[in-house]
Amino acid sequence: MAFPYTRPRRLRRDEFSRRLVRENRLGVDDLILPVFVHEASGRAPVASMPGVERLSVDELLRTAADAVALGIPALVLFPVTAPEAKSLDAAAAWAEDGLAQRAIRALKREFPQLGVITDVALDPYTTHGQDGLVDADGYVSNDDTVEALVNQALSHADAGADVVAPSDMMDGRIGAIREALEESGHVNTRILAYSAKYASAFYGPFRDAVGSAGALGKGNKSTYQMDPGNSDEALREVGLDLDEGADMVMVKPGLPYLDIVRRVKDHFGVPTFAYQVSGEYAMLKAAAMNGWLDERACALEALLGFKRAGADGVLTYFALDAARWLKED
Ligand code: PBG
Repeated sequence: MAFPYTRPRRLRRDEFSRRLVRENRLGVDDLILPVFVHEASGRAPVASMPGVERLSVDELLRTAADAVALGIPALVLFPVTAPEAKSLDAAAAWAEDGLAQRAIRALKREFPQLGVITDVALDPYTTHGQDGLVDADGYVSNDDTVEALVNQALSHADAGADVVAPSDMMDGRIGAIREALEESGHVNTRILAYSAKYASAFYGPFRDAVGSAGALGKGNKSTYQMDPGNSDEALREVGLDLDEGADMVMVKPGLPYLDIVRRVKDHFGVPTFAYQVSGEYAMLKAAAMNGWLDERACALEALLGFKRAGADGVLTYFALDAARWLKED
């Protein structure tokens, strides 16, 4: 062949052809906004997540109004539980008038069209900061925890949650929750399973935000969250959750696990979400604040990367900003 007749650069020559051949796009429909709610009034900043705040239920409604106006389809609620509401049995997790339950009701009353997703896990409610109930040796015991998670998921559904998202990584919890939802008539409450959730150090700022870091201390979650070295195991976990009735699955964290997103999407072809977690947000934010990275360009590039890897959507603390940036573009 003569000197190249095939020149990939031709299609990159102009904006019109770059647009025509672009394979993946990020849109507002891909964004899910995580929000922290607290019992206090007003807003309180999260030091390790600049730009992210803990919100009272009233303030949450203001933020939800912004999300709705921007066209964001859904948000995920994370309650910051007061120390006195924490216990060994995590009973506050399914209190009818608990913070999460009140926040769900307020959101569904004001914004029925906005999807409300709830986190199902006990860590905000346990004195030790683990996601489940512990036995005498401090081991998170699976089957008792699943019973508690069922109570929690039902109370969220009763309050009006559209989607429950178990983030605890106990075995069998999706099936138990699905069965309880069906039996109680919540047949349309969807389950977004954190199926491949890794024991990651990137959750640090989140644990500061919800105040479970102190409780957890030097403890870790390696006896239930996945080992970062594993990949085949993620497929096994996703397969189990789908068999048990999950409607959507999630990979978490995001950027260091894009290979897992791609494998899950290729293997199962089901709605697959990725969580750009607190540590990923903090890294980008810190570099941007130092003038080392262009925040907008890097955040949008990272979010597009999730789409390219096969994600149907991304849970991201950049959701409001990203929605505004996409509108401006
Ligand atoms: C709780 C939960 C965690 C996150 C979401 N749900 C923390 C953890 O597992 O310790 C982390 C989210 C983030 O880092 O942004 N089960």
